[in-house]
Amino acid sequence: MRKLVFIISTVILLSACSIGNTWDNPMPEEGFLIIAHRGASAYEPENTIPSFKLAEHLDSDYVELDVHLTKDGELIVMHDDDVKRTTEAVGKIKDYTLAELKQLTANEDKGEKVAVSGKDEEAYEIPTLQEVINEMEEDIRYVIELKDTEQYPGVEEELVRLLKENDMIGVDGQQYPKAVIHSFDEKALKQVHKIEPTIPLLQLISFEEGEEARISEEELEDIKTYASGISVSYEALTPPFVNTMKDEGLAVYGYTVNDEEAALRLKAMGVNGIHTDEPDILEE
Ligand code: G3P
Ligand code: CA
Repeated sequence: MRKLVFIISTVILLSACSIGNTWDNPMPEEGFLIIAHRGASAYEPENTIPSFKLAEHLDSDYVELDVHLTKDGELIVMHDDDVKRTTEAVGKIKDYTLAELKQLTANEDKGEKVAVSGKDEEAYEIPTLQEVINEMEEDIRYVIELKDTEQYPGVEEELVRLLKENDMIGVDGQQYPKAVIHSFDEKALKQVHKIEPTIPLLQLISFEEGEEARISEEELEDIKTYASGISVSYEALTPPFVNTMKDEGLAVYGYTVNDEEAALRLKAMGVNGIHTDEPDILEE
């Protein structure tokens, strides 16, 4: 009998541990979150401190940014794994030291690269994640994207370490998680979940143009073991899909929405929030 009780208790305990969306600190379910994609990137060069400051000024609920590891192991903020599109130089981030990257200028204005030599008030440095955290108000919240992780062994550990060091794990005064991590890379998210299971995670999912969002039962069950929600290319979202995901306990976000009508449609559909380059998209 004692053996049976032990087996039943173990099964219950293991089931509880494997349910991924019973977080201590999920993102709030009510409301419609505005997540500033690469900062207020419609107005300032993406993934720069001016872009994040403007997003903060525009009352974004979260600031989204992308991180990579430099040759000397520093977490820096840039979208691509290569500096070509947003600076005056070429080459992979992993082949640059932080000091070398600091000589470049992330000053891209609507596709026109503007190389600024030397640092003056017009210059936009490539920021480290630590610099962003230092520069921003303490109450700003982050959605941090892990990208190209195969190039950066140990990047998940380094990100969790930095978040812990900056007291960014857990919720703020309004009960919002201070930091959320998202990625298309399911392996990276599972690794973060293994290291620090209290960090809310969002699985990014992209669908082809014209395709309706759908995921298999198996994928859904898998996502629920580590993520509290999904962020989907918004054109694919449909009311039945959103309802099913929410019934399954997953939050649903749409990316990247820069059209007011689409934002309102998603809000009416019950989507939990949007990633947008224009955090003032729904302001009168
Ligand atoms: O907001 C979702 C988004 O961050 C994923 O795509 O390419 O803009 O990083 P990307
Ligand atoms: Ca991103």
